[in-house]
Amino acid sequence: MRKINYFSGFSNEKDKTIFKLEQEYGAHHYERIDLVVRQAKGCWLTDEKGRKYLDCLAAYSAANQGHHHPTIVNAVMDALIGNYASVISNVVFTDPLGIFLSEAAKFAPQMAPRFGNHGNKVLPKNGGVESVETALKTMRYYGFKKKKIEDGKQEIIVFDGNFHGRTISIVSFSSSKKYKEGFGPLTPGFVSVEFGNLEAVKKVITPNTCGILVEPFQGEGGMRIPPEGFLKGLRKLADEYDLLLVCDEIQVGMGRTGKKFCFEHEDIVPDGVILGKALSGGLVPLSVFITSAFIMDMVFSKGSDGSTFGGYPLACVAGTAALKVFEEEKLAEQSAQKGKILKERIEAIARRSPHVKEVRGKGLFIGIEVKEGNAMEFCRKLFKLGIIVNDSHGHTIRISPPLVINEEEMDFLVEQLEKVLVG
Ligand SMILES: Cc1ncc(COP(=O)(O)O)c(C=O)c1O
Repeated sequence: MRKINYFSGFSNEKDKTIFKLEQEYGAHHYERIDLVVRQAKGCWLTDEKGRKYLDCLAAYSAANQGHHHPTIVNAVMDALIGNYASVISNVVFTDPLGIFLSEAAKFAPQMAPRFGNHGNKVLPKNGGVESVETALKTMRYYGFKKKKIEDGKQEIIVFDGNFHGRTISIVSFSSSKKYKEGFGPLTPGFVSVEFGNLEAVKKVITPNTCGILVEPFQGEGGMRIPPEGFLKGLRKLADEYDLLLVCDEIQVGMGRTGKKFCFEHEDIVPDGVILGKALSGGLVPLSVFITSAFIMDMVFSKGSDGSTFGGYPLACVAGTAALKVFEEEKLAEQSAQKGKILKERIEAIARRSPHVKEVRGKGLFIGIEVKEGNAMEFCRKLFKLGIIVNDSHGHTIRISPPLVINEEEMDFLVEQLEKVLVG
């Protein structure tokens, strides 16, 4: 029978040509599976032959709203066609930026409420890692200015197994050798302690400590949820020792764990929050650091930060539309309801499976830890059955589909998990 190309995508180059082009011209910094995605829509990815794969990775939570959400796509297309999408010099104002900043500031609860009700302010960047850098600068400057720590002596507490991105300063405090080996000299000023261990945090606080940077749940670190009371305890320590507590919610924010913000699971409010990925619905790079206006104005003055593309109109238009979709479609609620059902169904599989060590998660952030520690082998089998997932920390299969996944799609996922984990 003749093969039919169901759609065209970007080019008509064959998959094997694409593999070759990357092999020859690209840095080999990712381990990829043998799939060339030609189109992405909702929860589905399509290959050259029109075969569809259920995307249960969602670009590590960047596609929470589903790929190519029409509201966000239309907003971006309007901006391109209407000639208000390109980078405009930061020396002038743009209305997409002003509007996006106000939406993002109001999206979060009052940050750092201990300083009063000043409202929030937002500093926009591109990839998530850049906003983590903004947060680090904020914590250090706060230590210098407010706590009178000698400049250069500021210390920030971070957690073993963390993942905050790959710039030199940020890999400097990674626990993973492969992220930093050979890239020295590394940036000093970070102390890493066991994730979930409050006593360990307390022990390393010194007069030079200015902040705590935490992922409320660790995504890359093995889909780990800390013991109950951990975030509350961090909040208490931060108040007691006058430290800025910053939550990196780039992966676990925006509904992923069944709440708008993951820190809500413990009913705390941090001093700053970092968002990225789904903030633009996965269409353009956009990330933000949000903190109290009191802190933002203390730390940043003219010239002390900036970015050519940070907060450019196209990203702001996408961001404003993505926030609207988030609220209108009640994505956090969808994630909580569907995640509960999906986790129960996966737990039922786990009880019959010789391979599963533990199932953990909240909302549509679900990890299946396998006994043999070889999660990627199971991910490869799932790929052959039309499911895209990957491992987290080697031992855990990460299930994090777009939050708009429907019942039928969840049935399909559960059927394939049953085949791979039970047989
Ligand atoms: C918690 C967390 N922080 C920071 C980052 C870095 O974001 P980006 O890859 O957009 O720079 C990631 C990316 O996976 C992340 O999961």
